[in-house]
Amino acid sequence: MHQPRAFEEISFVELPSNYQTDLGPFLARTYDHYGPIFRSSAFGQPVVYMVGPEANRFVLASHRQVFSHRQGWWKVVEMFGDGLLTMDGTEHDQHRRMMNPAFTISYMDHYLPIMNRIIRERTTAWASRGVVDVYEEARKITFDVAAEALTGLHAGLEVDQFRDIVVQILNLGIVAIDADDYQRRLAQLKGHLYELLLPKIQERRQHPTNDVLGMLVQARDDAGRALSDEQLFAHTNILLVAGHETSTSLSAWLLYLLTQHPDYLQRVLDEQTALLDDSAEPTLEALKQMKVLENALSEAERLYPPVGNGPRGTFEDFEFHGYRVPADTRVFYSIAASHLIPSIFANPTAFDPDRFAPPREEHKKVPYSLVGFGGGSRICIGTNFAKVEIKAMVSQLLRRYQFGLVPGQTIVQLYRGTGMPVRGIKMYVSGKQHVYR
Ligand code: HEM
Repeated sequence: MHQPRAFEEISFVELPSNYQTDLGPFLARTYDHYGPIFRSSAFGQPVVYMVGPEANRFVLASHRQVFSHRQGWWKVVEMFGDGLLTMDGTEHDQHRRMMNPAFTISYMDHYLPIMNRIIRERTTAWASRGVVDVYEEARKITFDVAAEALTGLHAGLEVDQFRDIVVQILNLGIVAIDADDYQRRLAQLKGHLYELLLPKIQERRQHPTNDVLGMLVQARDDAGRALSDEQLFAHTNILLVAGHETSTSLSAWLLYLLTQHPDYLQRVLDEQTALLDDSAEPTLEALKQMKVLENALSEAERLYPPVGNGPRGTFEDFEFHGYRVPADTRVFYSIAASHLIPSIFANPTAFDPDRFAPPREEHKKVPYSLVGFGGGSRICIGTNFAKVEIKAMVSQLLRRYQFGLVPGQTIVQLYRGTGMPVRGIKMYVSGKQHVYR
């Protein structure tokens, strides 16, 4: 009879000291050597890595009930509360049902005018500044957009304050001197967040709006109960954090990749010219038709996925690839490594957006090969939101400005929370001849 091998027999690898800057390539090499499951230790705790489409399918779809999001994303719960990303089981499913309507592609018509306006206002002075850090600037755009579209907060001092607190919480791990200091500062920052958000939540209860927060305030669970302040606070935080941090990285990486590949950039520009007048802001219909840009976005998602590994806890023992993994083990399904498997993505480290165009469509050969937004029923709820926002941003920027990378920078992707360009990406910006309004 088939007997699975014990946990201890799973190949063990030491994580290298440059793990955070070499996460995808390192884990892809390890996959090549040991196969789709291996183990290591992170912060003194055993961790099992699962890599490749077969592993992704197992974690995200066929055996998803074995895995706990709350245990996996416990750090996010500690920082921002228990929101959609971190819930498990039927509680999650109920809350996701409440939010789903606000994230369908047709609902994006509602957000696009907000996105277009904020992108225009935030970037209007770029040419006169000469040099901008596109990563830092993208964060201001995506945060303003998430704050207004999802919670109805208007750009300005209050939203800037809000962003500042969120960024401070995200950076606590590097700033705090020890665990006590971390907890003390976290409690203080969360207190500030609460002070800012609670009046907004109470205001929404009295005057419901049609943003996501307004929708959640009015929602009732199966027993007819409204969500508590605590739950609304967590949902809002998580939507804002998940909704801006990842889009910030991905839009900056996409701009970077395009400026590094002028031939492909020209094709993106030709597509823009074919679909939109010089001065027109992108419509949802035009964005849907931007396939050349869409493929570049997928290539940025593949090469620089903002979420490198999807963390999980385990409710029960499971067996994968002939090995038994006990309950309460931490598991990472590796997004970044899955994207670098040469049998799926030809010449995987090369920038080649046409791999996503017919007839190649490399990502469709095996399901769960491209998982930058996760997959299965817990796929990122903000996928449409992020893609529309990033395409609108790039469409406006490329038709308005010319970009060039400031020389002498070392552009490094570091996985700390998300896969960010750790020293930013500085670009020269100059206006194009036509006036874009
Ligand atoms: C480039 C942008 C984005 C990327 C790469 C991204 C990536 C991801 C990934 C990989 C997951 C699954 C995590 C897992 O399996 O554990 C996820 C889930 C989630 N994302 Fe995103 N995300 C992006 C934008 C957004 C936006 C704009 C929002 C909200 C407006 C958002 C909200 C969420 C939420 C709430 C979940 C949890 C969904 C659930 O478990 O039901 N994300 N995202």
